[in-house]
Amino acid sequence: MITNDVVLVVKDLSIEFGGLKAVTNFNMEIFRKELVGLIGPNGAGKTTIFNLITGIYQPTSGKIQLDGEDITHVVTHKRVKKGIARTFQNIRLFKQMTVLENVKVAYHNNMTYGIFASIFRTKKYWVEENKAHQKALEILEVLGLLEYKDELAQNLPYGKQRKLEIARALASNPKLLCLDEPAAGMNPHETEELMETIKIIQDKFQVTILLIEHDMKFVMGICDRIYVLNFGELIAKGTPKEIQTNKEVIKAYLGE
Ligand SMILES: Nc1ncnc2c1ncn2[C@@H]1O[C@H](COP(=O)(O)OP(=O)(O)O)[C@@H](O)[C@H]1O
Ligand SMILES: [Mg+2]
Repeated sequence: MITNDVVLVVKDLSIEFGGLKAVTNFNMEIFRKELVGLIGPNGAGKTTIFNLITGIYQPTSGKIQLDGEDITHVVTHKRVKKGIARTFQNIRLFKQMTVLENVKVAYHNNMTYGIFASIFRTKKYWVEENKAHQKALEILEVLGLLEYKDELAQNLPYGKQRKLEIARALASNPKLLCLDEPAAGMNPHETEELMETIKIIQDKFQVTILLIEHDMKFVMGICDRIYVLNFGELIAKGTPKEIQTNKEVIKAYLGE
């Protein structure tokens, strides 16, 4: 569902690595509750754009706004607090912790009690702890992971580990959820299931989603709009239908 309400604005964003232009004058607008795809051949600069949006990289030039606020120079952990969450192209979980603990640890970053409360286990600590527990269970339920809550993360099948990553990202209660190739390495059945799950997440948590994905069936099947990147430059944007028939896009993917 698309409204006129803009969540993220990226303006003339560029970054160079030792002379290599990884992203050049990139512009993007994402509306609240939209599901936007970011696609392009390998090395096009997609993950770099995620790293710029989340503050891991500083742009050479350009601006990023979240809900009208300039966050270009805000550090990563503060961007998380302001509502930007992400998953990574390669799975990053606490493999020796349970599924539930993985989500609670992520939630802890958002807690308001201090070190004093946690050492002395004050009332405030228990109130927050209980909230974290309930919230984690709610997220696991939506993602279909509740029955695995006491399993070690490392014992989950691959597709469920990827879902657990998304659960962790949701624990910070984001406005904007950035998913970097969530279906990578999944079999067709897991991919199909993930598509359903992402739709459900968007609906239940009223979150805006930006998604990098290689699987075209996946991208075309769930995105409201798609941005296409090639050699660090935007070559097309539009609905899945518009993108599928765009000459520049076909050329970028298939070569001349
Ligand atoms: N930290 C870095 N240092 C040097 N080059 C980088 C760095 N991060 C990304 N790049 C380069 O930027 C380009 C885009 O990479 P990336 O954003 O990972 O592509 P994609 O995610 O679209 O496959 C590549 O040429 C990559 O080698
Ligand atoms: Mg990438």
